[in-house]
Amino acid sequence: MHGSCILSRVILLPQIARCGADFGVERDMRGFSIGNVTLKNHMVLGPMAGVTDLPFRLLCKEQGAGLVYTEMISAKGIYYHNKNTEKLWESREEERPLALQLFGSEPQLMGEMAEKIQDRDFDILDINMGCPVPKVVNNGEGSALMRTPELAAAIVREVSSRISKPVTVKFRKGFDGDHVNAVDFARRMEESGAAALAVHGRTREEYYGGKADWEIIARVKEAVSIPVIASGDIFTPEDALRCERETGCDGIMLARGVRGNPWLFHQIHYYREHGVLEEKPSIETVLAMILRHGKMMVSFKGELMAMREMRKHVAWYTAGYPHSAEIRRQVNEVNTYHDLEMLCERAGEHFRLKEKPSFRK
Ligand SMILES: Cc1cc2nc3c(=O)[nH]c(=O)nc-3n(C[C@H](O)[C@H](O)[C@H](O)COP(=O)(O)O)c2cc1C
Repeated sequence: MHGSCILSRVILLPQIARCGADFGVERDMRGFSIGNVTLKNHMVLGPMAGVTDLPFRLLCKEQGAGLVYTEMISAKGIYYHNKNTEKLWESREEERPLALQLFGSEPQLMGEMAEKIQDRDFDILDINMGCPVPKVVNNGEGSALMRTPELAAAIVREVSSRISKPVTVKFRKGFDGDHVNAVDFARRMEESGAAALAVHGRTREEYYGGKADWEIIARVKEAVSIPVIASGDIFTPEDALRCERETGCDGIMLARGVRGNPWLFHQIHYYREHGVLEEKPSIETVLAMILRHGKMMVSFKGELMAMREMRKHVAWYTAGYPHSAEIRRQVNEVNTYHDLEMLCERAGEHFRLKEKPSFRK
């Protein structure tokens, strides 16, 4: 019903391009510029390690994202020619403008690596100063840089002096409750050459728990004259408009809210235009998206890796729909694209017949 599972890029690319033209948010009054890069609108897909790979970025782009970020990329990984690192920055013209996110803690190395890759296909170089993971923080990287603002500033100075593309910084409210320094930190980043800032309104200590503090983001916005993008807890169109209003930011960043819901970009645009919420995608639309996402993943990562990674995406896509627990259980046995097709077919039949949860193999 959905064709062969072995797809070459040649087949895939026209399909991506067509969908982009059909569903994208073409232009929006709220676009802004970061350095010499103009964004069509203010909705940004935030970087998420393990999620914002090329296929997912393309899906978000076609739903209207104005800017998309790669997953974070290690400067040391580039230095050591790590093969996995190469895959992280592979890009396509259709997703531009693209922000490539680097992490590291050595100004010299960060500057050299930025210079080395500056001619690759990306538009903005973002520096990660928000990652909370111990492996990263214990190396003095990610959110640990909020504890060493001098070093953070030296990194931004070095990187921005070596490349002509705009350099941006993504950071948090602070390292912990006793060290909430986002406002001072933001000023320093601006003075050091940052062209824009993205602020996640949680401390490192909070990870992703509790509620994001939009008030501190508003204070950052007031303190600097470069564009500020607000990050944290935008899960619905109402959240998006409220966040814009309360922070006064130039851009809003969507992260966990788009996992399994790339439509959120379009839903926000629709809500703003019409003042009412767009209907939730039908299960048929969701299943078709799962298959298309799966195809793109096969083309980009090979079938085995693609299907492993699709398991979490399928769980996110189907969360909240009836019988999603059964789909989640079955997706763990999916190893080939054909298996994924069969799962979606069974799920589709099941929903059409409105049976009880037993869509057996
Ligand atoms: C699974 C996951 C991976 C993430 N990876 C990155 C990353 O690589 N770089 C980064 O700057 N932020 C990363 N983030 C943080 C998000 O970009 C975002 O700032 C944060 O999740 C808050 O937004 P939300 O509440 O809308 O999810 C990640 C978040 C999640 C949940």
